[in-house]
Amino acid sequence: MNQPKKRILTGDRTTGRLHLGHYVGSLINRVALQDTYDTFILLADVQALTTHFEHPELLQTSIYDVTIDNLSVGLDPNKVTFVQQSAVKAIAEMTIFYSMIVSVNALRHNPTIKSEAAQYGYEELSYGFLGYPVSQTADITFCNADLVPVGEDQIPHLELSRKIVRKFNNMYGTNITVPKIKLSATPRLAGLDGNAKMSKSLGNAIYLSDTPEEVNEKVRKAVTDPARVTKDIPGNPEICNVAKYHKIFTPDRYEELAEKCRTAKIGCVECKKILAESLNTLLEPMREKRAYYEAHMDEVRDIIITGSRKASEIGDAQVALMREAMHLAL
Ligand code: TRP
Repeated sequence: MNQPKKRILTGDRTTGRLHLGHYVGSLINRVALQDTYDTFILLADVQALTTHFEHPELLQTSIYDVTIDNLSVGLDPNKVTFVQQSAVKAIAEMTIFYSMIVSVNALRHNPTIKSEAAQYGYEELSYGFLGYPVSQTADITFCNADLVPVGEDQIPHLELSRKIVRKFNNMYGTNITVPKIKLSATPRLAGLDGNAKMSKSLGNAIYLSDTPEEVNEKVRKAVTDPARVTKDIPGNPEICNVAKYHKIFTPDRYEELAEKCRTAKIGCVECKKILAESLNTLLEPMREKRAYYEAHMDEVRDIIITGSRKASEIGDAQVALMREAMHLAL
């Protein structure tokens, strides 16, 4: 008999459109695994509130944007379940239960929380922000996800999730799945401006929804080897951002282009043009799918609502088991 498929749950905060950093960090994995795993994609709107609580109007558009971004890269809505986090009440309830068994210090010392909090200042840090890895644990376990594909900044959260679940199971005798982490094969994507990370807040992102012209323009402005002031000075691909991108997005020609750069046989302008072409070739099929969904927003809404209903049923069953184990079921 066939074993039931194992489950994946992963997701995105709904704070804006997704970019190439998301693509290499997480979306590629989702697409590759959707046939083998029963996949849940979480539209983390509650988690988005941790930083965007003053701008809820932005969240609604973003729920749609993030869903369309995920669909545009090739996730198949007939196979994948899209879930609006705030629509699944079990997640909120499980968050409260888990919050009783996690120490504040574990959260305060979480390196990702720390570096994100540095942007806001600890004084400004809300209870919800500090606790978002706890609600993320509920996200993952309401459906007993086996595997969570994420980028490296999420590792501390996932490690904490595994601890919380083990502790809960030990304490109450439940059998909640301890999730495994699936790290992206590609290291974090640097910004083309020389920043260590591509990020919306740093203003250096190439969005999956960018037009060819926007991509050309962003690549044209990319920072390269600063010592290569003119074309006849040989460049150093080891320290060049554009070269790093070629390695990921033009892998077949990487060695050739790097060699031409080292021997000053290709200039940065031409090298960037080739990169822009590679990116546009990657993005073109996504643009086509996006255009379809943007013209069928009812379908997108339906995908989210149907998925969230299914998730709620699964989550309610999980909470019922937990309540029973915790002697809360009368
Ligand atoms: N914190 C994740 C991010 O910022 C998004 C997220 C929310 C998530 N819930 C999740 C990722 C559950 C994996 C599993 O990208």
